[in-house]
This record gives sequence, C-alpha cells and structure tokens, in this order.
Amino acid sequence: MDSKTFPPDMISYYGRRASEYEQIYAKVERQEDLRRIRGIVAAAFCGHDVLEVACGTAYWTEAFAAGARSVLACDLSSEVLEIARAKDWGTGSIEFCQADAYALPAFKRHFSAAFSGFWWSHIPRSRLVGFLDEFHQKLQRGSKVMFIDNRFVEGISTPIARTNEHGDSFQQRRLVDGSVHEVLKNFPSESDLLSAVSDSVSTAEVLLTDYFWILSYQIK
Ligand SMILES: C[S@@+](CC[C@H](N)C(=O)[O-])C[C@H]1O[C@@H](n2cnc3c(N)ncnc32)[C@H](O)[C@@H]1O
Repeated sequence: MDSKTFPPDMISYYGRRASEYEQIYAKVERQEDLRRIRGIVAAAFCGHDVLEVACGTAYWTEAFAAGARSVLACDLSSEVLEIARAKDWGTGSIEFCQADAYALPAFKRHFSAAFSGFWWSHIPRSRLVGFLDEFHQKLQRGSKVMFIDNRFVEGISTPIARTNEHGDSFQQRRLVDGSVHEVLKNFPSESDLLSAVSDSVSTAEVLLTDYFWILSYQIK
C-alpha cells in the first residue's frame, strides 16, 4: 500500500527496518523505563476496547493485549504487520489492519481507548491537529488515550541533522543493510503536548521518565 499522505520514503524505511525494529527496545540503559511503561500501559487498557495506530511490530500491543477486552491495531507497512500478526496472541480478541493513520477507515466497532507508541514524533507539526481530530473522532466520549514517545537525551539520542521552516526536526538513520534515511523525528516539550490536546480533552497529563514521555488524557 502506498500513502499519498506520508513521504513514501518513510514507509519504505519502516518496511526495510521491520526485522531489526525491536532492537531499539534492547538498549540496556532504557530497560528500567521500559519495564515501568509496560506496566503503565497494561494497567491503562485493562478491560478496554483499544484502537492502536502505527502499531509497528506490536511491541506495545503485547504489553496490553492480554488484559484488553479487544484490540484493533493498525499500521501502514505490510512488513511490520506481518511480524505483528505472527506473534502468539493466544485466544485474545486481537486484530491487525493495514491503515493510514491520516486517513483511518470507518471502523465497524466502538473503542473505549486508544494508544499509539512512537508515532507522535513522526507527525509533521502542520499535520498534528488534523491527525488528532480524526483520531479522536474514532473514539467514544470519555475514551482513554495514551501516546508514548522519546525524549531527546543529549549524547544518547541520534543527533538532529536539520530543522525545517515549520520546526520539524530530522535525523539521519542507518539500517543494517547500510542504507541511510532521513527521518522526521520531533521532540515536543511537555507544554507542546498538553496544548496540542487542550481543546478536545479533559484530565491531560504528561509523565516524564529518563528516556520517554507519556501523554494520557480522556476525550471530552
Ligand atoms: C517508530 S515506529 C513505531 C512502531 C510501534 N508503535 C512501536 O512503538 O514499537 C512508527 C510506525 O509508524 C508506521 N507508519 C508510518 N507512516 C504511517 C502512516 N501514515 N499510517 C500508519 N502507520 C504509519 C510505520 O510503519 C512504523 O511501524
């Protein structure tokens, strides 16, 4: 599937990276944060019908699927979805679908919660409001929403190679096959996060760990 709404290079980057993607979660210094966040995510979605966008290889889906009532997890890349579907999901109600986060289909089901990991940072600033509006429209009133993503950690994060006129920042990333890709990767501040959702939500809060941020809120 091709996306008219996202640089094709980005889709190809994640497709090529699919088999090595979860290495990012093996970094030793991040294990304590990751353990803590897996616990937070699992507790947040217990008993919920969850919509997940840009699920990738379903690393985070695995953290909350067992306790959720149902999960519909979407990504645009067929390569990552293949890895996600091949995992052992037991008898849970877990489905995957190929969908563009910027043009989500009309789902024939209701969601009481939504999650997305490491996706917000890849959304161009000019598209954030549009994405959030559409994402929120897929959810019932009162739904719980959670986003997780990286903080920029000096000396550890991949350096910012350039910033464009809209304030979007870009990194140069190398895959194991030697190919180099320029990837849009934004690092919003706590106030950027809260102000992005202030109109449509209640009880928004940001939790900062050493390496990650977690934004959680409820749809009004
Ligand atoms: C940084 S990865 C995060 C994957 C996963 N959520 C995780 O946290 O491990 C970003 C994901 O966004 C997906 N993606 C990129 N553009 C997309 C789009 N327009 N719609 C849906 N998914 C997209 C990529 O295929 C990739 O799996």
